[in-house]
Amino acid sequence: MTTLILGRVLAFPSDPFTTPPQDAAVLHEAVAVADGRIAGTGALDAMRARFPDAEEVDHGDALILPGFVDAHMHYPQTEIIASWGKRLIDWLNTYTFPAEARFHDPTHAAEVANRSLTLALAHGTTSLCSYCTIHPESVDAWFAAAGARNMAVWGGKTCMDRNAPDDLRDTAQTAHDQSAALLARWHGTGRGRYVITPRFSPTSTPEQLAALGALWAEHPDCLMQTHLSEQTDEIAWVRDLFSQARDYLDTYEAHGLLGERGLYGHAIHLEQRERDRLAETGAAVVHCPTSNTFIGSGLFDMGLARRMRVGLATDTGGGSSFSMLRTMAAAYEIAQLRGEALHPAKLLWLATEGSARALHAADRIGTLAEGSDADLVVLDLASTPAIAQRSHHAADIWEAVFPTIMMGDDRAVAAVYVAGQRVPR
Ligand code: GUN
Ligand code: ZN
Repeated sequence: MTTLILGRVLAFPSDPFTTPPQDAAVLHEAVAVADGRIAGTGALDAMRARFPDAEEVDHGDALILPGFVDAHMHYPQTEIIASWGKRLIDWLNTYTFPAEARFHDPTHAAEVANRSLTLALAHGTTSLCSYCTIHPESVDAWFAAAGARNMAVWGGKTCMDRNAPDDLRDTAQTAHDQSAALLARWHGTGRGRYVITPRFSPTSTPEQLAALGALWAEHPDCLMQTHLSEQTDEIAWVRDLFSQARDYLDTYEAHGLLGERGLYGHAIHLEQRERDRLAETGAAVVHCPTSNTFIGSGLFDMGLARRMRVGLATDTGGGSSFSMLRTMAAAYEIAQLRGEALHPAKLLWLATEGSARALHAADRIGTLAEGSDADLVVLDLASTPAIAQRSHHAADIWEAVFPTIMMGDDRAVAAVYVAGQRVPR
């Protein structure tokens, strides 16, 4: 059975960071979905001729995009989002670690995993790459909750064997063994993919980093995620803890944790050598703009997108919003502070294909290419009076969508499809 979904369908045949942004996109009138996958995009007449028996769902002049892809978040921090007054290390100790300590309880983990995915979908996010907690139960809960919704998610056990409370520490050996068991259980189960997850160098001994580096070498098709150079205090701490390292990135590289399938969250205060090594190895960095302003971390350099893959992410709950629209707005504001006006095509591309590329998954999600999984978000570009009065006199699609990027939230999300199925409200 084929369904034709009608609206203003925005596809990106090219990368707007390498093509003039307004030329990187095309507008279609319909997207065809069959068996959970995209069967085609095009003009309405052509699509009706190609799929004569299709049923139609008409979203009027709403904008249809691939579902948003959140390339770095912490689902266990859902209920501490928007906690006041701290910077990174204090914020971790005051809010994050106490919240994460509760995830030994499978009932709690399941409840928060479900709430987090419900919130994500309400905001138009159909794929997420999450840190779980030290507890294997938190990983089981994440993949089970996503599997029940048929969502493509990534996640892994967050490993820490020092500088964390007693009830949130594992060891080099248990981090390796529990990660290996979870990887065997969840990597490739349904649409789930396991991610090897050392939290960051300050909370892992060199032995633990090496154990996880060895695990990654055994499973090179897995992603590995961690944090890199988010705050200057953190970088100074890493320098103290790893006196032989050339820089922060070197603490990962020396333990087998730098590679093409590595995802480095934040990556704000980088040395030139670190930029060069990230680019040479083909690694991806993930921009977490609402978090970087909320926790006071710094201004990410979007110029990195010319040299390496860059994903976009909420970083819930260091980030202050579940919305990838708000996240795009923050990315725009940060780029403005650095003297660059990011075109809306770049923002939308980062939140979809850019993040999917960072996850090495652009063949499955983040685009409207034929054969891709049919995860879609439908945006009402006049969802509030303030947005409507601006978008109604837009000269082109970019002027029509930019007010929703800057001022939109979950009210702009008119519909969401996961693997071709419309998600009930
Ligand atoms: N660095 C290490 N852990 C975290 C975390 O949970 N959130 C953020 N924003 N940075 C981190
Ligand atoms: Zn993070």
